[in-house]
Amino acid sequence: MSFDINKLIRDNIRKLVPYSSARDEFTGRADIFLDANENSLGSPLPGKYNRYPDPHQWKIKQKIAEIKGVPTQNIFIGNGSDECIDILYRGFCNPGKDNVIICPPTYGMYEVSAAINDVEIRRAGLLDDFQLDLVHLENLVDSNTKLIWICSPNNPTANSFNRHDIETVLNNFDGIVVIDEAYINFSRQKSFISELTEYPNLVVMHTLSKAWGLAALRLGMAFASEDIIAVFNKIKPPYNIGQATQDLVLQALENVAEVNQFIRELVQSREELASSLKNVSVVEKIFPSDANFLLVKVNDAKAIYNYLLTKAIVVRDRSRVELCEGCLRITVGTKEENEQLIDTLKTFETS
Ligand SMILES: Cc1ncc(COP(=O)(O)O)c(C=O)c1O
Repeated sequence: MSFDINKLIRDNIRKLVPYSSARDEFTGRADIFLDANENSLGSPLPGKYNRYPDPHQWKIKQKIAEIKGVPTQNIFIGNGSDECIDILYRGFCNPGKDNVIICPPTYGMYEVSAAINDVEIRRAGLLDDFQLDLVHLENLVDSNTKLIWICSPNNPTANSFNRHDIETVLNNFDGIVVIDEAYINFSRQKSFISELTEYPNLVVMHTLSKAWGLAALRLGMAFASEDIIAVFNKIKPPYNIGQATQDLVLQALENVAEVNQFIRELVQSREELASSLKNVSVVEKIFPSDANFLLVKVNDAKAIYNYLLTKAIVVRDRSRVELCEGCLRITVGTKEENEQLIDTLKTFETS
C-alpha cells in the first residue's frame, strides 16, 4: 500500500484559502469585542448567546481527548456524523469522476451524500452471514476509488464485521477507509480508534447520538491523522457547532459514569428483548446484535409494521432492503416499552 494524502485531496480543496473568522484572527485577551458585528447589547436569552462560539470547539475536544485517549489535533467535531460524511465527499471526491464503495445493506447517508455530491457509488454487498465480501470489494476498486465506507457495528444488520477483514481493507487500500462506529459502545468489539497511529488512511467516526443519548444536540466526531483533520477543518463552516450545543455537551461529558450505566442497561435489555421475542410466534429469526437495536425477521413484516402503528408503536420496516427481506429493525426501548411491544405483538398473533 502506498498512501499519499496529497494524491487524494481534490485540487480545489488543496488550493483553497479557508475563510478566516474574526475569532480566528484574534488571539490573546480583550475586554471590548468590536470585531465580529455581533449585537453588543445582548440577546433575549439568559446566558446571552450574542457572541459567536469557539470555531474549533477546544474545550469539547480536550474533554473528548481525555475520554477517548486521542490527542486533540486528531479530532474533528461535526454537526452530527452526517456533517463528517458530507465533508469527506467534498474533500476527497471529484464530482462526476471519482467513486466510493459501500457494503450494503448499510447506513443510508453514505449513498445520499454521494448523490448530493455527484459521486459514483459502488456496492460490495455483504455475504449471507452479513460479513464483508473482500473479493468483491477488491474487484470494485480502481484508481478513482477514494473512500471505502465500513459501518461496524452495521446498521441495519446489527453485527460487527470481522476485525481481520477490516484490517485487510486498511492494509490494502490506497484511499481512505472510514469506519463508522456509531454503535461501538454497545459492541463486544474494540474500537479502531486505538489504531489511528497504525493506519494513515483511517478515519473513525463516533457520535453522541446513540449511547450518549444526545441525538437532539447534533454532535458527531471524526478521528484521523492530522493531515486528514486539516482537510475537515478547511471545509467546515466556521461556526459549525453552536454555543448552546457546546455548553450542553461540555456538561454532559462530565457524566461518563451515567453513560456507562445506560450502556449496561441497554445491552442487558437488548438480550432480554431478544429472548422475549423468541416466544412470539410471528418472529422467525432474531439476528445477533452488537448495537442498541435488533434486526428481526417476521412472517409478515408489512402487516406487523402497520398493526404496531395502529397501536402507536413505530419500528423501522426494512423488509424491502437487500438481505433484510421480511425484517423489522427494532430499537431497544425502556423496559416498559419493550414489554408493551412484546404484549402488542402477541395480540397480533391472535387477532
Ligand atoms: C451508522 C450510523 N452512523 C451515523 C448515524 C448518524 O449519526 P449522527 O446523529 O451523529 O448524525 C446513524 C444514525 O442512525 C447511524 O446509524
